[in-house]
Amino acid sequence: MCNILIFTGKGGVGKSSIAAAAAVRFAAEGRETVLVSTDMAHNIGDIFERDIGSREMQLMPHLSALELDPDSLIREEFPQAAQAIRDLTGLSGFDNVDFEQHAYLPGFENLFSLLKIESLHLSGKYDKIIVDCAPTAETLSLLKLPELLSWYLEKFFPVGRTLVRVLSPMAKHRYQVTLPDRKAMDEIERILAHLIRLQIMLKDADICRVRIVCIPEKMVLEETKRTYMYLKLYGYHVDGLFINRVLPDEADNPFMAGWKKIQEIYIEAYGQVFADIYQARLPWFPRDIRGVEGIAGLSSCLPEESAFRPAQDDQEVWEMDGEAVRLSVLLPGAEEADVSIRKSELDLFITVNDFRRCIPLPNTLRHYHIEDTWLKDDKLYVSFRKIVS
Ligand SMILES: Nc1ncnc2c1ncn2[C@@H]1O[C@H](COP(=O)(O)OP(=O)(O)O)[C@@H](O)[C@H]1O
Ligand SMILES: [Mg+2]
Repeated sequence: MCNILIFTGKGGVGKSSIAAAAAVRFAAEGRETVLVSTDMAHNIGDIFERDIGSREMQLMPHLSALELDPDSLIREEFPQAAQAIRDLTGLSGFDNVDFEQHAYLPGFENLFSLLKIESLHLSGKYDKIIVDCAPTAETLSLLKLPELLSWYLEKFFPVGRTLVRVLSPMAKHRYQVTLPDRKAMDEIERILAHLIRLQIMLKDADICRVRIVCIPEKMVLEETKRTYMYLKLYGYHVDGLFINRVLPDEADNPFMAGWKKIQEIYIEAYGQVFADIYQARLPWFPRDIRGVEGIAGLSSCLPEESAFRPAQDDQEVWEMDGEAVRLSVLLPGAEEADVSIRKSELDLFITVNDFRRCIPLPNTLRHYHIEDTWLKDDKLYVSFRKIVS
């Protein structure tokens, strides 16, 4: 059973309430649980009606909580790592580096929230780590960071220290930049190894899974579809969808009956988009979810854990097709007009609107070009063919 559960979704749909309810439920079963908020607009303190800080605080038997603050994490737990990454990403002016692709690192400080979650995981203290995330866009920038940064570090330091020794005097002269010294370099190599471990952890369905929270409304449906697609693009395992604030069946007036009908349309639409994922409906309570009792009420509506399971589909599949090599990547709901694909040496860049993923290609594809790309059955296909000179 997985250890880390990440709750995400659009703002205001009930992520924090449901994450808190899930945490209370695990704690009530006697599992050591920690509820972690990475949303800068923390509200688990409001929900439990307690002041929760950036250190683990016991809320009830088997349940602790903390609200992460990247600035204090950087200061108190990861000062060297933060400095080394800052030094490094301040570099510019190299040849052969696809700068335009990765030169800027939005929300870089959020990486330290992920490192903290990893250290909670590795501490072995908890059976369940429940992560209450910021609204979707920020979650996605959080979740794509490890991949982005390790790409960046690898491109800069493919041969590690040797490169620094050889390049440092020259780089200073030619590019007016200072390369990190050897000590910083050791730190950077450590971070690179660490980021790779972090990626493996976040994308291991036996360790980490993502649950999406939504409500049956048009705007939320659209954003939820995009979230799912981007999470897939980055290779995360989504194992459940919570459709929150579902109106009761017994609508006894035309106003409620009208809204009930509208909700049904969107509940059905969710059913189609998330066909391979377990969907749980949660009722719209006649009051806010507040205090231990309020959360317990929501907790009792949560389905059994055994209902959740990640979709079986393999994220990336390579196939031979005669002379051509074909890659398929799961990209549910993507539209042709939003997707662009580019190969640069041994990197394949898939861009869907503002989100870009880089898939490292096997060495054998060095002299191949992209012959064709198409979308079919929620998958993106890319076919490569050997360049004939
Ligand atoms: N099923 C529900 N019924 C009634 N109120 C709800 C329900 N789910 C959430 N709420 C309320 O909606 C508001 C937003 O919920 P919250 O969990 O803070 O959302 P998010 O973390 O996604 O921004 C809160 O006031 C919460 O009490
Ligand atoms: Mg919240």
